[in-house]
Amino acid sequence: MTDLPKLFQPLTLRGVTTRNRIVISPMCQYTAHDGHLEDWHLVHLGRFATGGAGIVFTEATAVQKSGRITHGCPGLWTDSQIAGHARVTQFALRNGAIPAIQLGHAGRKSGMQRPWFGNGPLNEADFARGDMPWSPVGPSAIPVADGWPEPHALTLDDIAELKADYAAAAQRALAAGYKIAEIHGAHGYLIHSFLSPLSNQRSDIYGGDLAGRMRLALEVVETVRAVWPDELPLFFRTSAVDGDAAGWQLDDTVVLARELKARGVDVVDCSSGGISGPATGGGRRQPGFQVPYAARVGKDTGMTTMAVGLITHAEQAEAILAEGHADLVAIAREALVDPAWPLHAADTLGYDTTFKTWPDQYGWWLAGRLATSDFYQPKN
Ligand SMILES: Cc1cc2nc3c(=O)[nH]c(=O)nc-3n(C[C@H](O)[C@H](O)[C@H](O)COP(=O)(O)O)c2cc1C
Repeated sequence: MTDLPKLFQPLTLRGVTTRNRIVISPMCQYTAHDGHLEDWHLVHLGRFATGGAGIVFTEATAVQKSGRITHGCPGLWTDSQIAGHARVTQFALRNGAIPAIQLGHAGRKSGMQRPWFGNGPLNEADFARGDMPWSPVGPSAIPVADGWPEPHALTLDDIAELKADYAAAAQRALAAGYKIAEIHGAHGYLIHSFLSPLSNQRSDIYGGDLAGRMRLALEVVETVRAVWPDELPLFFRTSAVDGDAAGWQLDDTVVLARELKARGVDVVDCSSGGISGPATGGGRRQPGFQVPYAARVGKDTGMTTMAVGLITHAEQAEAILAEGHADLVAIAREALVDPAWPLHAADTLGYDTTFKTWPDQYGWWLAGRLATSDFYQPKN
């Protein structure tokens, strides 16, 4: 037995070792300009690096311009976008965090509203702001829901181009300094829409049975793995269930995970939902509601898994790992509340109650205050 909390045990994935098991989950900021990251992104992501996370994910980043979720989403479809990402990766690495990127294509949901303008299809008010629509694409000409635009069903040539663009974006991500790439296969975006029978009603090799619907996901993975160095890990985010009896099921996710593993995916990141509405919508949720998905995938496939979704407390995160339900925990909204969530979790779990793992710029002073003041007392 070790006294070291599981949350603070390093994890080695291929040639990359994280300082702990805490991942900041990808979070769209809808603040990029023409697909380029801004100062906002550096500060937003930089705070998570100085806040002690092991891995910091840059938000869903489009491999094609038309694959952006909104006009404010970043991309890596052209070389001029590399520099903005490089600032983020260099800062993260200098501060002990592993920079990771989520590569995606929004598919049927491309060109939608920023959440705070409605989180639905673009409307007149968005056009007036200059956010003009473009034609979304998908597996079949089936809209996300009533009122959403009908997507153009990708042709075989479109799919070949898409895969080449994934590879090119992955190479740009590498040039930018990312050490982990994740394929976004969740939340109703393009790859998920090919997986789900609710949205994929193709009759060619990219549709039909499970193998046909998985084909795009697996080919994208093969294409990216071919250019992503052997020593760097590849993650895949899945919507483990659609939440619809006629949709994608957890058993399908287990089959997919085995195929991903065979193609060099190292971590399955288990989210859920989003096929028929906004990615972040849904009803009331329980703490850790998606943890059972990671647990099942890990148990059945032996793969490294990441749990995400309403993980907010240090003890909760520690229990998920200690009970063997997942190997990594991802934090999203709670990191917006507290960008130094990992440092505070270290205090709560007794791993660091004296600021020794804080950045020197802060830790030296805080440790000094602790030693000399009756005013501040550590929690443990
Ligand atoms: C502001 C915001 C933006 C998000 N953007 C993404 C994204 O780019 N890619 C993704 O896979 N999930 C995205 N998500 C989902 C989160 O990564 C995470 O899975 C979800 O919020 C549940 O975790 P939480 O309960 O810790 O917030 C986003 C969530 C938030 C709050």
